[in-house]
Amino acid sequence: MANSPSGDSMTDRLVRVLETFTPTRTVQTSAEIGRRAGLPSSSAHRIVAELVDAGLLERDESRGIRVGMRLWELATRSSGALRLRQVALPFMERIQARVGEHTQLAILEQDEALFLERLSHPDAVTNITRVAGRLPLNASSSGLVLLAYADPEVRDRVLSGRLIPLTPATITDPATLRRTLGEIRLQGHVVAPGYIEDVSTGLAVPVRNAAGAVVAALSVVLPRDAPTESALAALHRAARDIERAL
Ligand code: PHB
Repeated sequence: MANSPSGDSMTDRLVRVLETFTPTRTVQTSAEIGRRAGLPSSSAHRIVAELVDAGLLERDESRGIRVGMRLWELATRSSGALRLRQVALPFMERIQARVGEHTQLAILEQDEALFLERLSHPDAVTNITRVAGRLPLNASSSGLVLLAYADPEVRDRVLSGRLIPLTPATITDPATLRRTLGEIRLQGHVVAPGYIEDVSTGLAVPVRNAAGAVVAALSVVLPRDAPTESALAALHRAARDIERAL
């Protein structure tokens, strides 16, 4: 791929442009994209125009740039995550009908929990999870389950990195986190009261593939002091059913 005068390849620049979009920054101008991607404005305008022509980016009614449906279509088409989501969805709907708050499915991706799906109720407690958004492994219930069953190298890397607190209840001490991960493996679930937001409790269980490897975390978010037994039972049952269907 042709390199720019600064030595970065076209692919590098395309990736930097696409990565300026985040779950909360979904519309930008070309100038903002260029600044955030570290590109001269002429290059940014040209790359954005080419991506718009290809349908990978789109202009909205006020000429802001957002991710194009074509990019969503291509990215979603062949992904193993899509199959997992499709298999899980009917069982997630059953949990959601029972708990009536939030039900979510996440996978481990680059040392974070990446959310594939979230079902919610209009009157449910607040929830910072977004579909295609990420949460830290040490702070979210899904992240804790994914970390508990992750490869030892991933666990060691996360435990020796920065464990950022989102609330006073978030686990940030490596020894406490290691102990908690052991308890999750023993119990087969986690209850995470107030780790992400003071007002809520996350509950999560692992979902395994046919070979027994944990491939996802299934979770619910409840108001902080809500009872957890029936939601945990619904999660365990759904995880078993998804495993059978996978
Ligand atoms: C959790 O998974 O623990 C969780 C996620 C989002 C929230 C609260 C809790 O807003």
